[in-house]
Amino acid sequence: MASLPTIAILISGSGSNLQALIDATQSGKLRANIVVVGSNRKAAYGLERANKAGIPTRTFSLKQFKDQGKTRVDFDIYVAKTIQEEYKPDLVVLAGFMHILSPEFLSFFPQNNVMNLHPALPGQFDGAHAIERAYDAFKKGDIQHTGVMVHKVIADVDRGQVILQRNIPIEKDDTLEDLEKRIHSVEHEIIVEGAQKFLDELTASE
Ligand code: GAR
Repeated sequence: MASLPTIAILISGSGSNLQALIDATQSGKLRANIVVVGSNRKAAYGLERANKAGIPTRTFSLKQFKDQGKTRVDFDIYVAKTIQEEYKPDLVVLAGFMHILSPEFLSFFPQNNVMNLHPALPGQFDGAHAIERAYDAFKKGDIQHTGVMVHKVIADVDRGQVILQRNIPIEKDDTLEDLEKRIHSVEHEIIVEGAQKFLDELTASE
């Protein structure tokens, strides 16, 4: 039997989307093996989720690099090189990885096999706190709904070819927490479907 494609996942926080990916690989919904989980925050709860699932973890500290007089680009090169050379993943998934990637990072992945999850629709609320910003925009009457997407990563933050996107309604009585919950539950589906779709495309283009 051919071996399953491999995924490396980068996180910074709770890792609920990482958990969705772990669960999906275990149930067979996502036909892949997660070979490493990397985090730029050593306290990220997602690292515990990975440990529990028996997945190797790596932590990468930008602060340590800066303390040694090195640059963000040096850091990016180190992270990318470690992932690429030690794990050779078919796909890299950014699942709440709150770090702006340089072109130097991406140069280690010439097949453009890096995917990001973003809790907003294409072109909207790039960067951090997208859900809060969508919620505020709704309150001001600037938007009627929001959404989530997974997309191929390019050097511009939260831009790049969309793999899947879903609209998400905002109700007028929603608290921010209501909206966050609704968004996260859709994210947990779309990240799995998006990863499978991306892997299918990569296999088809080989
Ligand atoms: C998710 O909502 C993800 O879309 C967001 O970080 C959260 C991570 O949650 N990513 C971005 O905002 C990227 N710009 P998690 O740690 O529970 O998976």
